Amino acid sequence: MNMPEPLFVGKNILHFTEIESTNNFASELVTKTNPSEGTAIISDFQTAGKGQIGRYWHSEAQKNLLVSFILYPKSITINEQFMLNIISALAVADVVSMYKESVSIKWPNDIYVANLKIAGILVQNSLRNTQIKSTVIGIGLNVNQVIFPDDLPNPTSLFLETGTNYDLGAIFRLVASRLEYYYLLLKSRNLALLRNTFENRLYLRDEWAWYIHDDEGKFEAKITGVEKSGKLMMYMRDGKIKSYAFREIRFMH
Ligand code: BTN
Repeated sequence: MNMPEPLFVGKNILHFTEIESTNNFASELVTKTNPSEGTAIISDFQTAGKGQIGRYWHSEAQKNLLVSFILYPKSITINEQFMLNIISALAVADVVSMYKESVSIKWPNDIYVANLKIAGILVQNSLRNTQIKSTVIGIGLNVNQVIFPDDLPNPTSLFLETGTNYDLGAIFRLVASRLEYYYLLLKSRNLALLRNTFENRLYLRDEWAWYIHDDEGKFEAKITGVEKSGKLMMYMRDGKIKSYAFREIRFMH
């Protein structure tokens, strides 16, 4: 895989031993100063790591990659903001794929190895009218952690998958390089290509599986792709295609 030195993503790095949340720090930094595009906030540990839907992101100190990148995606509108989830998921999936097979993206942007979650991503956009003023792409990639708390449903790490310890700085540079690669594709408006590449990597794509809808209950469907808005498109047992927004449905496993 082509892995050049990134030009701007991850060039400027702020590294902490401990911080509340790299996403929170990055968001504050954007409001207070004018950090250069691609600035990365890294921490060895987070006291209040943020997951999706207000959840806590667990990570043992110094074991995993905890990073937030700051970008100013001027080339897309708010209707296209799901593209930022797409580029970050593709970047992380590419890096994990360098070490292990069976890597997929569980919609909207969890990174899976087979049926286990190896990375989570939290994209937080700050909007102004129809434009995205700035975005914070927070990535938690489990690298060297061996034991996880019992209440996490299905965690894994690069170490658990391969039996090898990795240099966190090297993993960071790979992620930065892939993120820059996909971000440049986004800047040059290769939106269809990016969406296609993302769809091809979707977990359970074209496979019958069970889902739960808050109002409609359990249903069986096949994931077929994503709409431009990021909604998940599903082929139902009755032959209809339906699409669902994040939080409307849950995977049953
Ligand atoms: C998820 O719930 O899957 C998303 C997890 C995102 C975690 C990362 S760790 C680095 C960054 N800082 C945070 O507080 N969260 C993200």
